[in-house]
Amino acid sequence: MCGIIGVVGADDALDTLLEGLARLEYRGYDSAGVALVRPGETWRVRTAAGTESVAALRDACDGAPPGFRSGIGHTRWATHGAPEAVNAHPHLDCTGRVAIIHNGIIENHVELRAELEARGHVFTSVTDSEVLAHLVEESRRDGLELTDAVRTALRVVRGAFALAAVDAAEPDVIVAARRLSPLIVGTARGTTYLASDVPAILDRATNFFALSDDEVVRLGPEGVRAVDLDGAPVRLRSLAIDWDLETAEKGGYDDFLSKEIHEQPDALRATLLGRRRGDGQIAFDELRVSDEELAGVRRVVLVAAGTSHHAALVAKYALERWARLPVEVDISSEYRYRDPVVEIGTLVIGVSQSGETIDTIQAVREARRRGARVVAVTNIVDSSLAREADAVVYTRAGLEVSVASTKSFVAQVAALELLALRLAQLRGTLASLDVENLVRALEATGPLVAAALERAGEVERVAAALAGSRDFFFLGRAAGFPTALEGALKLKEITYLHAEGYPAGELKHGPLALIEPGVVVVAIATDPDLEEKLLSNLAEVKARGATVVVVATDDDESVAALADYVLRVPALEPLLSPVVDVVPLQLLAYSLARLLGRNVDRPRNLAKTVTVE
Ligand code: AGP
Repeated sequence: MCGIIGVVGADDALDTLLEGLARLEYRGYDSAGVALVRPGETWRVRTAAGTESVAALRDACDGAPPGFRSGIGHTRWATHGAPEAVNAHPHLDCTGRVAIIHNGIIENHVELRAELEARGHVFTSVTDSEVLAHLVEESRRDGLELTDAVRTALRVVRGAFALAAVDAAEPDVIVAARRLSPLIVGTARGTTYLASDVPAILDRATNFFALSDDEVVRLGPEGVRAVDLDGAPVRLRSLAIDWDLETAEKGGYDDFLSKEIHEQPDALRATLLGRRRGDGQIAFDELRVSDEELAGVRRVVLVAAGTSHHAALVAKYALERWARLPVEVDISSEYRYRDPVVEIGTLVIGVSQSGETIDTIQAVREARRRGARVVAVTNIVDSSLAREADAVVYTRAGLEVSVASTKSFVAQVAALELLALRLAQLRGTLASLDVENLVRALEATGPLVAAALERAGEVERVAAALAGSRDFFFLGRAAGFPTALEGALKLKEITYLHAEGYPAGELKHGPLALIEPGVVVVAIATDPDLEEKLLSNLAEVKARGATVVVVATDDDESVAALADYVLRVPALEPLLSPVVDVVPLQLLAYSLARLLGRNVDRPRNLAKTVTVE
């Protein structure tokens, strides 16, 4: 994890770094730091102030000496070493001239550190990253220029990295490289930038380029030069960016989370736009897999983490019901360690908002190694996952900044369900009229989500009544089960309250022992076929004193008798309903988090994009 930024040749280098870091905080905010360079001097400041680390860094930079035109900055999500200033980046070498920032994990740091210490290097942190500073130092001492020094260092490290190095002896230069962690370069007249992500430099750069794995880039007075690890020149991929800064900011909302929750109707519309041809066939322009190949799919495996995993679980029901395909869903961090069976005809779908979640990237890599065809469902164009896969479906939900995923969930469900319908079309498992009706129903979900959002006031009142509660169980059956998991995840992420999601029928196999007065049970009861069974489950918890909240459709009166509170949603075909049913659950988590005074955009201990295993 972590966010990195760099700038070469700017009169306002420090402001560039600080503003960029503020936009990268979603990648980590345990601590932050900058290093500015000018001939013969590297000036470094680091702070560790929890979620306020970048703000504290800005204060600490007050009175910075003038005249620096280049530098690097970092916002950290701790992996090795406590979130303290001493472990914050940039890290310096023994001379104090070389500074490095790093996102990722150096897996062989213990051996490297021992070797470096044996050769006389003195370490000042317990991080894995600091070895990079000392490795670069050694090559510099041997007379290599900075690019070659970084390349030489990277030959001996194992693991994942996006890193940048500066040296006061070459003050107009930053050398950066990546393997598995994201890194982009931006240019504008006379100034060059690098960052983990586009928003950090969106207001300053005019052209953007992405590094691929094992590419090393030198930003200097002569512009941008990229080489591979052997030093051979490479061409960076140009990125087309269609966001503006407005999109990357809060647009009038108190926080990114409420902005993104309210953007869900648009996210659904954008994801589904232009996917249906005049002849009724579903078409994904960006999906570079032939119809013959898709028709030949015999089994689907979905791999994903967190919220994306919940969207994948919804897709399982749709793929089985509509396309009549056997489907497995795996948590991506588990997939490659369980010796998975990949048979001919296995389609692996990696689902990831960011496209940079290392667990999911490694899972699809493993699947490809075993011969599977891989489709990525991701929100980020040209992300690592998109490049790892044979083909991509983009969710087009727009930039998601808040750590808690909301609009990506509904967009992922919509994209995956559309893919399920395409497979049904190709396999002939649904009549064309049924496919058409389902596609139209999916296209109509935007306004229904908007209608669910209009009831935010009702949800706030329920949240106020539940404000003292500490334990929540979310129950659902069929597609309501992943919705329950997602409701519980949102609540625990942003309120820090205890929440569990369960298939409703499973409760009596153990967790029922935890139900007592004061516990809140939230049930998703929008599937008419399963309602009777769910009502029995609710009677069981009610009898044991739980407070019962039910998510029910507008026309459903039978649940009201058992519920202490009812959260109404528009009725929808049950397999499509997660995109609507999740809305009151997101709003409930949001309202409770606000009542508890939590930082909803930057919950403690978390980061938006998890690029470490
Ligand atoms: C969701 O609210 C979480 N922040 C988290 O579970 C997230 O969904 C997970 O890390 C996967 O991220 P991805 O979709 O970018 O791969």
